[in-house]
Amino acid sequence: MLLRQRFCTKSAPKVKTRMGTQMSAWQIFQYGGNEELTQTTTARVPNILKPTDLLIEIHAASVNPIDTMMRGGYGKAMINLLRQGLWNQAGGTEFPLILGRDFSGVVMETGKGVTRYKPGDEVWGAIATQRQGTHAQYCIVGQSEISHKPKSLSHIEAASLPYVAVTTWTALCLVGELTQKNAQNKRVLIHGGAGGLGTFAIQLMKTWGAEVTTTCSTDAVGLVQSLGADVVIDYKTQDVQSELQRISGFDVVLDPLGGKIPSFSVDLLKGWRNSKYVSLVTPVLSSTDKFGIPLGLLTTATNFGTNIIRGFINGRSYRWALFIPNGNALGQIAKLVDNGKIEPVIDKVYTFDQVPDAFQKVEEKHGRGKTVISIKDS
Ligand SMILES: NC(=O)c1ccc[n+]([C@@H]2O[C@H](COP(=O)([O-])OP(=O)(O)OC[C@H]3O[C@@H](n4cnc5c(N)ncnc54)[C@H](OP(=O)(O)O)[C@@H]3O)[C@@H](O)[C@H]2O)c1
Repeated sequence: MLLRQRFCTKSAPKVKTRMGTQMSAWQIFQYGGNEELTQTTTARVPNILKPTDLLIEIHAASVNPIDTMMRGGYGKAMINLLRQGLWNQAGGTEFPLILGRDFSGVVMETGKGVTRYKPGDEVWGAIATQRQGTHAQYCIVGQSEISHKPKSLSHIEAASLPYVAVTTWTALCLVGELTQKNAQNKRVLIHGGAGGLGTFAIQLMKTWGAEVTTTCSTDAVGLVQSLGADVVIDYKTQDVQSELQRISGFDVVLDPLGGKIPSFSVDLLKGWRNSKYVSLVTPVLSSTDKFGIPLGLLTTATNFGTNIIRGFINGRSYRWALFIPNGNALGQIAKLVDNGKIEPVIDKVYTFDQVPDAFQKVEEKHGRGKTVISIKDS
């Protein structure tokens, strides 16, 4: 376990135009298992097509559960709709598909409408699902999807945070309505505290003064305590449901895992208005994959409505959250990092040649913090 593992940050490379040349990348040509991941040195360096887009040289990226799921075709119905340009997002073709949703790197070129960044700037970001991904030497991002990277971190350290940080921000702040001002002394339950998302969420809530309860395996108890968790339930040796019921009355419950957790977690909330159960396991993408877009959305809406009614009966609210790119949130998180409030938790760093090994590790779902790929220095 590497808590705040230190790597050298290299100075920004000489800026030069790379448009129209070739790059190294990991691609898939059809959905499937890890055997579909193909390394190439002749992928096309992407072009800037929108004025607010930038070309980034990627120094490091992370692997998230969404990458292994997208490799298998998860979300393809909705993501293809987005790729076709509906909802006004620049997407592109389905295959060959480069996976990877976050990065730390350097701006190489900017579109004419980019106001906040210039070539040579060190930035980090988490990009929309319909974009070509970050497991490559270069990628295109929108200026609203990135911010300046924390100065105190190397690219490898920085790459561990954007996707989980932005997802946590959406879940706890935008959907759970917690802010730096109102989180003080709020009781927050974070299921799965040892993973990439949990290790960030614990730190953000502790920084804002919340009382944090979390669940994890025996070997991770020390890790989540070192991040500030006030109450830790070991789900390998304790009866999680009865332990949590004993101390129930949470203002917000964050559930990244699903399974049996929702069946008892909504009842752990305070029994009056303004307590919220926020689930990161939404059926919208799997339902649209299974039933097609119209029926899938209808099924999801019905499911959501049922849960809302269940929550309302008890005066609690049941909400879903999904990753949404958010450069503003990343800017605020970069300040917290540079002020020493939040540290990256890195489980393992892989070289660019080892991307399939990194996918396998994430697919095993036993993360202790994040899995990162070193790209520029591999
Ligand atoms: N909706 C969205 O937009 C969105 C975005 C990001 C993430 N997510 C979801 O959030 C989940 C977590 O993401 P991540 O990046 O943190 O994954 P991760 O790094 O693989 O971590 C998963 C963690 O969950 C723990 N865990 C598994 N079962 C548990 C249980 N019953 N009780 C407590 N802990 C348990 C695992 O620890 P053990 O080894 O002890 O089992 C592991 O530490 C993933 O399922 C992901 O798909 C959703």
